[in-house]
Amino acid sequence: MNLTDEVRKRRTFAIISHPDAGKTTLTEKLLLYGGAIHVAGQVSARKRQRAVTSDWMELERERGISITSTVLQFPYEGHTINLLDTPGHQDFGEDTYRTLLAADAAVMLIDAAKGVEPQTKKLFAICRERKIPLFTFMNKMDRPSRDPLELLDELERVLGIGAFAMNWPLGSGDTFKGVYDRETRELHLFERSAHGAKRAAVQTVADARDPKLRELVDDVTYQQFIDGLDLLEGAGEAFDRDAMLRGEITPVFFGSAVTNFGVQLFLDRFIAMSPPPAARALRETQDDGGSVEPDDARFSGFVFKIQANMDPRHRDRIAFVRICSGRFERDMTVRNARTGKDVRLSRAMKLFADERESLDDAVAGDVLGFANPGSFAIGDTLYEGAPIEFPPIPSFAPEHFAAVRSIDTGSYKSFGKGIAQLREEGAVQIFYPWGSTRSEPIVAVVGELQFEVAKYRLQAEYGVKTIFSTLPYALARRVEADAQRAARAQLPSNAKLVEDWEGRPVALFESEWSLRLAQEWNADLVFAPFVADISQETVSP
Ligand code: G4P
Repeated sequence: MNLTDEVRKRRTFAIISHPDAGKTTLTEKLLLYGGAIHVAGQVSARKRQRAVTSDWMELERERGISITSTVLQFPYEGHTINLLDTPGHQDFGEDTYRTLLAADAAVMLIDAAKGVEPQTKKLFAICRERKIPLFTFMNKMDRPSRDPLELLDELERVLGIGAFAMNWPLGSGDTFKGVYDRETRELHLFERSAHGAKRAAVQTVADARDPKLRELVDDVTYQQFIDGLDLLEGAGEAFDRDAMLRGEITPVFFGSAVTNFGVQLFLDRFIAMSPPPAARALRETQDDGGSVEPDDARFSGFVFKIQANMDPRHRDRIAFVRICSGRFERDMTVRNARTGKDVRLSRAMKLFADERESLDDAVAGDVLGFANPGSFAIGDTLYEGAPIEFPPIPSFAPEHFAAVRSIDTGSYKSFGKGIAQLREEGAVQIFYPWGSTRSEPIVAVVGELQFEVAKYRLQAEYGVKTIFSTLPYALARRVEADAQRAARAQLPSNAKLVEDWEGRPVALFESEWSLRLAQEWNADLVFAPFVADISQETVSP
């Protein structure tokens, strides 16, 4: 098959949701349809097993999901689906941001009894920034849920995205009978059974007022259904695919993941409506036309995630590369734009659950995992042919800081290794007191839970027990000056001058007020907001 056709068959997306909305369950059902797993319960059983065998239930849950499903590839109806996992906890925004850079679309999963939850909002904000198409799945319709109109309204009001219902639920909870497809006028009936719904029966009805449909439910439920639908149809809005592609409106599907109802309906539509890989913009400094087409024969891609010790039995690091153009072939040689060095891509793999398969052929839209990547860093561009570079991946401004030391002086080397690894993965940022011997790092994170993850991983993966002493700072600013001038900066007594991994000066402040004071006292210095350029940072071997 030629490259253009193959690329067109790719759908690369991520599911975003608040914890417990049903992401694991939905993922599992999607995999079932793709034939990637054969028994429902495989993914969630593993998740549960991890949860009970660990004292760190939340952490293990997080790690559990990441380990089993960083990227899942499965075939469906002539397409190749790449499903990227996003961590569920609120403190992992940065990780999610990087993953969404690798996705061409996102599915927002919402618990229909709860509506938009805090984590939904945060993750949505990231999608909005990316301007990628967003599909919404209103889950758990088999349980009493909120009024569907109210749910749509909430998407518009709280998230500011237009919502277009593709199908409309007939009842909810005990009265839930199925969904009515607004386009095909088919009624997909929900069948209750001891083991959850089996395949849904489909009936074609003349319209929503067809007596066949009317007979299915009680008066109140029917009236609610018809009133809601009338309102939607009355608005006379047609679905605007271009607005969807720009991320301005979201098509909404109702269903129930655990009973496997509405999932296939959703998947079929998702594949028909979501975009295949598109052209990728290049870094602004590039003067060669601004973007790369996915079916350009020359291979290009970027590293969006590095993860160490994914599997304790392998003890290795995996760099995840999203292919942006061309075709990957085993053992091909590409150039790393940051280092200018050639790299032979010899051990690419597709990861699924605990099994690792080696991958010999992949095209734009696919994600490759490279074991022991050595010289890769997050944001690196890999390319064949004329030099190109994708935009750097920014790191979020840290908001929490802690001085960290190893309890046991004997494990100092492992401590250093662990700290370097966590930094390289982008799990934390590292600073040192200005001009110090670099023995006591300051770990900086966006969300406090990352401290616990770092502490836990230092012990579990590097055997180092540590003490994290929280520091009172809340803001980091780059001091744009040479080292000598920075060292002379007059800072409020509650601020601190530190250096980043590369030795560049950074000032930490407790408050905006303290920052303003520093700015007044040092009118010739710029305290620049912290948008670090990860791709510029070097990686320890
Ligand atoms: P998450 O990955 O988003 O955190 O959610 P997960 O899939 O683990 O689902 C959270 C809970 O919600 C699970 O129940 C799951 O069974 C349930 N759930 C998911 N989809 C639906 C649905 O469509 N309808 C209903 N009624 N429940 C749903 P649990 O009690 O925590 O675990 P389990 O013992 O049922 O697996």
